[in-house]
Amino acid sequence: MTKDDQMLFETALVARAGPLKALLRRLLDDRPLSGEIARPEQLMAAMRHGVLNGGKRLRPFLVLESAALFSADGEAALRVAAALECVHCYSLIHDDLPAMDDDDLRRGQPTVHKAFDEATAILAGDALQTLAFDIIADEATALPAERRAALVLALARAAGAGGMVGGQTLDLEAERIRPDEAGIIRLQAMKTGALIRFACEAGAIIAGAPPADRERLAEFGSAIGLAFQLADDLLDLTADASQMGKATGKDAAAGKATLVALHGAGWARDQLNGLVDQAHALLDPYGEDAALLKGAARFVAARNN
Ligand code: IPE
Ligand code: IPE
Ligand code: MG
Ligand code: MG
Ligand code: MG
Repeated sequence: MTKDDQMLFETALVARAGPLKALLRRLLDDRPLSGEIARPEQLMAAMRHGVLNGGKRLRPFLVLESAALFSADGEAALRVAAALECVHCYSLIHDDLPAMDDDDLRRGQPTVHKAFDEATAILAGDALQTLAFDIIADEATALPAERRAALVLALARAAGAGGMVGGQTLDLEAERIRPDEAGIIRLQAMKTGALIRFACEAGAIIAGAPPADRERLAEFGSAIGLAFQLADDLLDLTADASQMGKATGKDAAAGKATLVALHGAGWARDQLNGLVDQAHALLDPYGEDAALLKGAARFVAARNN
């Protein structure tokens, strides 16, 4: 990938984030929706703090670009992208809680439990999770009902006990029980990979693409999901907090089992290159149309924040 390709990707990432943020702001308005009774002010403020506080917005980008690959409806894709970002932000709010990673800084700002309090942070995460399914199921996501149901199901499977939440459970255990390489790969595929896999698969679901395309995009998502956490663990070792907007050096301090801890930084960099090649090969059938998704794979591995 040339420098120009990389620039094109980074410009597209920023451009995609604008309308997403505007939609998230509307979805997190204080006014209740039909069927809701009231939206407590402090809860909504905490939810907005956890969602509208920056972030790379990579998962939404993957939803939007994978949808565009199959010429899907852009408005519906934007809503699904927003739903996924709500789940991701909820996972970060809970990940930062004292009972989990106990972090004070996220995206360069105080974590939600620091800016508000612990109970509010827990509840903001809970409400963001249900909001995500509300957004997809709502008729405003103008897709045939079966596709909305398929998206709800796929997101639930990716986010729940057999996906992100299960992975977070195994990740916390990994500070005590040392998993082997296969165990680490599995827990990372769950805690981080599952939502990224969903992001890529979602475009094919939104578009009603054939099952073979859905599977190919899901595999692409799995490859870059693994790369994403590998890069995160590498950055935890090599980057500083001002660069990352969150504390670093935490994994080594906690004695957490990661692939970087197991094999070292050099091995991790080689592995990242291999995963990018693998991800790119999966998209070869789509030719130039997949250029931005290929850029995303490169970015995931080479990112510095
Ligand atoms: C951080 O995700 C959590 C992990 C899965 C490692 P991101 O690095 O995508 O965080 P934001 O959304 O850009 O803040
Ligand atoms: C978090 O992994 C993954 C999820 C939030 C599901 P980390 O704990 O490594 O993420 P950071 O480093 O705090 O962003
Ligand atoms: Mg964690
Ligand atoms: Mg953490
Ligand atoms: Mg980390």
